[in-house]
Amino acid sequence: MIEQLHRLEETALDELEGLSSMEALEGWRVAYLGRKGALTDILRSVGQLPAEQRPAVGQEANRVKLALEQAYDEKAEALKREEMLRQLVEEQIDVTLPGRPIKPGYLHVSTQTLREVYAIFAEMGFQVLETPEVETDINNFQLLNIPPYHPARDMWSTFHTTREGILLRTHTSPGQIRAMRLYCPEPIRVILPGKCYRYEQVTARHESIFYQVEGLAIGRHVTMGDLKGVLTHFARQMFGADRRVRFRCSYFPFTEPSAEMDMDCIICGGKGCRVCQYTGWVEILGSGMVHPQVLRNGGYDPSVYTGFAFGMGPERIAMLKYRIDHIRYFYANDLRFLQQFA
Ligand code: PHE
Repeated sequence: MIEQLHRLEETALDELEGLSSMEALEGWRVAYLGRKGALTDILRSVGQLPAEQRPAVGQEANRVKLALEQAYDEKAEALKREEMLRQLVEEQIDVTLPGRPIKPGYLHVSTQTLREVYAIFAEMGFQVLETPEVETDINNFQLLNIPPYHPARDMWSTFHTTREGILLRTHTSPGQIRAMRLYCPEPIRVILPGKCYRYEQVTARHESIFYQVEGLAIGRHVTMGDLKGVLTHFARQMFGADRRVRFRCSYFPFTEPSAEMDMDCIICGGKGCRVCQYTGWVEILGSGMVHPQVLRNGGYDPSVYTGFAFGMGPERIAMLKYRIDHIRYFYANDLRFLQQFA
C-alpha cells in the first residue's frame, strides 16, 4: 500500500510538472485530490487494512496528500504569474507613440470675411455693435421713414411673426436707430453686423437668410466726402490697392442723398463678363447721408449733426473675393466647400 502511495506521488508530481494551463491544473486536482480522485480512493481503503498497518499507511497517505496539495498551490501560483506576465507582454501599450492627430476646427468663410471687415473698419475707428435679429416694425421700417403701406416696403419682402408689429429684420438698418438711441448725443462710429431675413426666391445672389454689415458715422462735421473716402478705403483694403470704385445715385428712404457703390469687376478686370453682366462693374453696397428725420428719430438734432450710413452683404463680398458662384454654398454646410477655407 505504501509502495502504491509512493508511485502515485511520483506520477502525480511528474504530471504536475508538465502542466501549462489553469484548466489542465484543475483536471489534475480532480484526478488526484478530488472527492473521486486516486488519493481519496487509497485513503478510503485504509480502513480495510489490518489494524497494525493502519497507522503507518494512514500517516504516509496524509503526508502524500499534504505534499500534493502544497505542490498544487505552488503550481497554481506559478501559472498565475506566468499568465500575468504573458498578458503584460501581449497587451503592452507603447505610451511613447504619438497620438492620432485631431484636427482643430476652423472658421466659416462668412466669419472669416466678417472679421476682415471688422478689422478694416476698426482701423478707421469703427466699433462693432450687435443688435437683435427679431425687430419691431417701428425700428425696421417706421423710424427709417418707411410708414405702413409705403410702397418702399416692397424693397424688403418681410417675414412677419404671429405677434403684430414684430418681424425678422430685413436689413441691419434698424441697428442705426438702436445705436443712435444708445449713444446720443455722442458722435458715433459703429458697424452693425448680423443676420437678416427676406421672404425671397433663392437665386445665385439672394438667400432668405444672409448677413449684412451696416455702418453708421455721426458727428458735427460728417460729409459725403467722408462717406466716399471711408468706403473707397474699405474696397481697396478688401480687394486690393488698385481697385476703382464709383458712386451711383440711388434711393433709400432713410438716406438723402443715397448712393450705391460699384467696384470694377475683379473677375474680368473691368472688361465685362458674366459676373458683372458685361458692365465691368459690380455693386458692393448701398449708402447715403443719414436722413434728417432719421437723425431726429435717433435723438440727434439734424441742424447740428450729420452722418453717413452704408450697408453691405459680406457673402457677396466673399463671393467676389473667392469667386464663389452661388450664395447657397454659405448655408449648405457642405464640407467640400467649407474645407477650402480652412
Ligand atoms: N439697408 C439697405 C438695404 O438693405 C442698405 C443701406 C444701408 C442703404 C444703409 C443705405 C444706408 O438695402
